[in-house]
Amino acid sequence: MSHRSPHTPSTLVEADRVHRDAYLSEAVFEQEQRRFFAATWNFVAHASQIPHPGDYVTLDLAGRPLLVVRQSDQSIQVFYNRCAHKGSKLYTNERGNAGRVLQCAYHAWSYRLDGKLMGIPLRQEYAESRLSECPSGQGLTRVGATSVYRDFVFVRLDEQGIGFEDYFGASLQWLDNMADRSPVGKLEVFGGGIRNVIRCNWKMYFENINDTVHPVSTHESAGKAAKAIWGQQAESMPMPISVEQMLPFASGYDFFTQLDAEVYPNGHSALAVKFSTHTGYAYPQDYLDALTQAHGEDRAQNVLSRAPQNSVLFPSIAVKGAPLVMRVIRPLSVDRMLIEAWCFRAVGAPDLLHERAMTYNRLVFSPMSIVAHDDIHLFESVQQGLMADGNEWVSLHRGATRQAEMVNDTTHCKGTSELLMRNQFQAWAKFMAEETPEAT
Ligand code: FES
Ligand SMILES: [Fe+2]
Repeated sequence: MSHRSPHTPSTLVEADRVHRDAYLSEAVFEQEQRRFFAATWNFVAHASQIPHPGDYVTLDLAGRPLLVVRQSDQSIQVFYNRCAHKGSKLYTNERGNAGRVLQCAYHAWSYRLDGKLMGIPLRQEYAESRLSECPSGQGLTRVGATSVYRDFVFVRLDEQGIGFEDYFGASLQWLDNMADRSPVGKLEVFGGGIRNVIRCNWKMYFENINDTVHPVSTHESAGKAAKAIWGQQAESMPMPISVEQMLPFASGYDFFTQLDAEVYPNGHSALAVKFSTHTGYAYPQDYLDALTQAHGEDRAQNVLSRAPQNSVLFPSIAVKGAPLVMRVIRPLSVDRMLIEAWCFRAVGAPDLLHERAMTYNRLVFSPMSIVAHDDIHLFESVQQGLMADGNEWVSLHRGATRQAEMVNDTTHCKGTSELLMRNQFQAWAKFMAEETPEAT
């Protein structure tokens, strides 16, 4: 059902609650697509997916088709995936290698890897036409700005706006934390991402990533089943990865209320920094030695002991450094979203770490997981329940009156506080409201 909103972004978000139209309104969704996702920095690809010149990946970011291309000089450029002629996408497959030239399948216009228009069939027929004054004669259009951080490629669609470092601030440490789990500081995406389309608004997914009060009830049956099955095994049996990863879901409120969180400006956060369900993972001694040799003892210790439940780089990714997995979250429509679960290989790390990544993705994030379907059922239930009359507000009051400690730009709070979600909505309202700058 379409739902039009009389609200503006600033009236939808209050200090401790959010109006349901943020999840239901088509008009709000359109503004989000056009304005919010253009003004913010969003993840588009990992450099390891496109190692060679001419390698590309395609994606859809808030309704815009994008093309990420490895250049001859090894740099990475991001273009709109739109032929300058009549608008065909240059590539429709997810990834490939274009060779030395990007060529459109429709009328064979061709472009250099840097987007410059190279060849047009029957060029003489354009003589003295106005093509060269038209954007169609200028080659491919680049997105507003591209930044590559530890091989994670981000874009800002707007020509002008907040800089990359200012936007992400201290949240970038969590990309460092994941990359530094490799003794050579390198990550590689491996396997295909697991995709799931969920019939809910995308913001619900980001909220839930920071919600430590739901597992006790939402995942009760999965946690209890894992605990019961493991309890029946002989004591001498080594703990399988799947059990190591499932047992924390059987934890009670006493565990989750002890977790901490860090909240950064612009919607970013890290949940369970001091300890988490991942801090107990054991590592082989030769890996610990290699990491210490590469980074020094303090850094190596710091990397492994700080293993948040999730770190959110709003509004496109959530990373889990310890099991080396990442979720990419995309809006599809006001009530539909896509989640992709990716695995990383830490180059130079033992296979155990890769097994943990694969097992975690299958067990917790995939459509046939024994965890994700609990959440998905409830996200879809919320999307439907919000159509009810009588209460137009979603409560984010938990922990709202607690004093949080702020050091530099980082706010430290309890992991059960809904401050992490309130922070996302404050950022959302801010970037929704900003005027899209004129292209220069
Ligand atoms: S649309 Fe690409 S060459 Fe015509
Ligand atoms: Fe969950």
